[in-house]
Amino acid sequence: MIHLRSATPLDAPTLRAWDRKAHVVAARGGDGDMDWEYELPREVSWREFLIAEVHGRPVGFVQIIDAALEETHYWGDAEPDLRAVDIWLGEEADLGRGYGTEIMNLVIGRCFADDAVKAVIIDPLAGNTRARRFYERLGFRSVERRVFGDDDCMVYRLDRESWH
Ligand SMILES: CC(C)(COP(=O)(O)OP(=O)(O)OC[C@H]1O[C@@H](n2cnc3c(N)ncnc32)[C@H](O)[C@@H]1OP(=O)(O)O)[C@@H](O)C(=O)NCCC(=O)NCCS
Repeated sequence: MIHLRSATPLDAPTLRAWDRKAHVVAARGGDGDMDWEYELPREVSWREFLIAEVHGRPVGFVQIIDAALEETHYWGDAEPDLRAVDIWLGEEADLGRGYGTEIMNLVIGRCFADDAVKAVIIDPLAGNTRARRFYERLGFRSVERRVFGDDDCMVYRLDRESWH
């Protein structure tokens, strides 16, 4: 049911509207809003912006970055060939309907389609217990509690070997 496509500058109004949703704000912690008008047209080798659609309707956003090459070094001295994922659904009404699971399974497959990629990593806020349970059900294991900026996060990892 889910289709993933690259985000384009035309998605900026949708993404800005989603940025104001309480469940998106709560999951983001201290990270500010993305400057979509600047970022969406900017193509860089270490990042993918994806829109998840259900029957042509945008329902979610996914960012995939190469943790070692990302320009701000958010992940510090990350080992090479990791992919870090951020995901959120835009509308409250779309939460808890299975879309996130289907999106993540596509995203994980997309990451591991590159033979070099060793693992997918995620950093939900430590207090985002529902998202943590969601990643655990997908097969991610918690590897460390880590503070990014002002955010107390739990780092999760899914290695290629444990992905089915
Ligand atoms: C996390 C998220 C992508 C999961 O997608 P989803 O389509 O809601 O999830 P599914 O329907 O496939 O699976 C259900 C599970 O998702 C998680 N979930 C559901 N609503 C959620 C919410 N508002 N916030 C976080 N996780 C949620 C729960 O683990 C839920 O299982 P539960 O009912 O046993 O608690 C989605 O809920 C979301 O965008 N949440 C808000 C933003 C967020 O927390 N993003 C992750 C930041 S690391």
